[in-house]
Amino acid sequence: MEISLQPVAPEQRKTPPPDDQLVFGKIFSDHMFRMDYGEGRWHNPRVVPYGTLEMDPAAMVLHYGQGIFEGLKAYRCADGRIHLFRPLKNMERFNRSARRMCMPEVDVQFHLEAIETLIRLDAAWIPHSVGASLYIRPTMIASEPHLGVRPALEYIHYVITGPVGAYYPEGFNPIKIYVSDQYVRAVRGGVGEAKTMANYAASLYAAEQAKKKGYTQVLWLDAVERRYVEEVGTMNIFFRIDDELVTPPLSGSILPGVTRESVIDLARHWGITVKERPITIDEVIDRIASGDLKEIFGSGTAAVISPVGEVFYKERSYVVQDGKVGEWSRRFHDEIVGIQYGERDDPFGWVHQV
Ligand code: COI
Repeated sequence: MEISLQPVAPEQRKTPPPDDQLVFGKIFSDHMFRMDYGEGRWHNPRVVPYGTLEMDPAAMVLHYGQGIFEGLKAYRCADGRIHLFRPLKNMERFNRSARRMCMPEVDVQFHLEAIETLIRLDAAWIPHSVGASLYIRPTMIASEPHLGVRPALEYIHYVITGPVGAYYPEGFNPIKIYVSDQYVRAVRGGVGEAKTMANYAASLYAAEQAKKKGYTQVLWLDAVERRYVEEVGTMNIFFRIDDELVTPPLSGSILPGVTRESVIDLARHWGITVKERPITIDEVIDRIASGDLKEIFGSGTAAVISPVGEVFYKERSYVVQDGKVGEWSRRFHDEIVGIQYGERDDPFGWVHQV
């Protein structure tokens, strides 16, 4: 399929804000990609000026939440090259989410070509400083107007982008997390491992409660026993215990993060023992108290590597690593960011040059 281009006239293009004023997800670039699905196929792929989507009020995504998305970033290297980080992983996960939600797949190479076409046209929007990047949000929604409950027959696939800084206001400083034993995010057999909109809607209530108590994110436990650690709001979670790296296994209710996989690959490459094993919140608390647990950090595209300095569970707060950034958090952060911005070797071939 040929992607048609309808660029914004140069004099009508917006001016990107300076890198030091960027926050996460507030500003969008001049263009977006869009294509439509109907009669069993995708058609009319195009890059058009960023703008609103017109939809029938009976569009099925607005009623039954049939929608998925992805998140990846474009990085500008010091020499001007533009990098994506393992983009096919996101394109493949998009299709896994699509299958789970009974939505049509998008050819992974074509999806990547669409993103590359879009970001080449909006290259001026890619920030220049390390730590800032162009966030890319591929999305698919059910657009067919129909109120019977079944998979839609019509969809819109679109990609928007925007320059971003750190996801958390704390930047790379440790965040405080709140363990929810009252509310759950996802149950095994449900849609927890799909990047579907409902998972984020389901997380909001507990996240607001955590925020009111001064915590940045919720740490979710498994939905059945409420004992096993699963993931943090927008990140996967890692523990440094006895100098091994422990993370919950992908049990079906956890999002399979691209950064999670990269941390595991790097750790093994460095000779660190990685254990993907169930870990209970009681073990976490006991090991913080005994000093065996030295660090906790989260991983995600938006959050990169985010150290955790405090865990709140059952009316008590537990400080980790004196509330400071740990050695491993910094090592993983610096290596991954270094690879993304072309400042460090890329032994795994993770970087994709645009
Ligand atoms: C990402 O890390 O890209 C995500 O999709 C998390 C997000 C909902 C901000």
